[in-house]
Amino acid sequence: MDNNKSINILAIESSCDDTSAAVLKDGVVLSNLVATQKVHELYGGVVPEMASRAHMQNIIPVVDVALKQAGVDKKDINAVAFTQAPGLIGSLLVGACFAKSYAQALNIPLISVHHMQAHVLAHFIEDPKPQFPFLCLTVSGGHTQVVLCRSHLDMEVLGETIDDAAGEAFDKVAKMLGLPYPGGPMVDKLAKEGNPHAFSFPLSDMKGYDFSFSGLKTAVLYFLQNERKKDPDFAEKNMKDICASVQHTIIKMLLNKLKKAAKELGINQVGIAGGVSANSGLRQALTDTGKEMGWDVYIPKFEYCTDNAAMIGITGYYKYLQGDFTDLSISPTARATWS
Ligand code: KG4
Ligand code: ZN
Repeated sequence: MDNNKSINILAIESSCDDTSAAVLKDGVVLSNLVATQKVHELYGGVVPEMASRAHMQNIIPVVDVALKQAGVDKKDINAVAFTQAPGLIGSLLVGACFAKSYAQALNIPLISVHHMQAHVLAHFIEDPKPQFPFLCLTVSGGHTQVVLCRSHLDMEVLGETIDDAAGEAFDKVAKMLGLPYPGGPMVDKLAKEGNPHAFSFPLSDMKGYDFSFSGLKTAVLYFLQNERKKDPDFAEKNMKDICASVQHTIIKMLLNKLKKAAKELGINQVGIAGGVSANSGLRQALTDTGKEMGWDVYIPKFEYCTDNAAMIGITGYYKYLQGDFTDLSISPTARATWS
């Protein structure tokens, strides 16, 4: 590698319902475009077939604008990084096919990225960056994981959800309350004006650093069924308090595990990542817990919490530095472990 030459990476993220492209120069984000697919709102959840079709429509214009905004010509791109797993297979295929074709046409290296590792590395896009060892709680629509990071690419999943993810719990409760998809941001907004102690829901405690959110989902379902029998408008009348109470329960379960892991491993560099880390209650609770526990707390900028290609690009950058390239025969996979 020529040490004086800068490294320009084009990154593609298409694992679910956001088509995103970013350009990074030496690990610095020059552009980060996200085309969010609105079509799914009509159906109350992501429709996989529609997601793939929308990715196909979006990918070329999104990459085009990302390159233009970055002011980088495609001939100056040194490598293409793309989300290889996990996600919806049809969605992943669109990004993978695009990235492979791009790399082949320009004869540049291809870098495969695991989406969950990229969520963690979103912490390394901007300052202040965590020191190692770093403990990251990754909370998204499909995953809830406690991750020990020994270096940028040496990570270990210490525990994860055995059923629903934290984001799924937010989205499913929102659906029960008749709120639009995706429910997480809506619950967050309503919870700000509600009483988190108005209703109490069970806290599950799994072994080690694992989580379970399906019990909470069922508890909220039965609670609403019972209350609606007495008053059909119960949910509408108590919406803010229900949202605040459910959010409080989810945050408590998440932070209990994070505290346990930080204590047992003796780590004081602690952060959150993934879509649910955009939650204002969780961000505040982590800041407060950090003060109480003496942690240095790291919370990515809002745009790097939810799905974005900048996080794929920063992961691609560290892999590029290690010469960790993949060949064109690689296929995306819907599920894949990574540590
Ligand atoms: O990481 P992400 O964008 O996509 C996946 O990889 O899954 O996470 C999406 C999840 C959804 O469940 C969404 O409801 C949740 O993140 N989410 C939130 C908030 N913003 C997004 N949950 C709670 N509060 C928020 N403000
Ligand atoms: Zn994600």
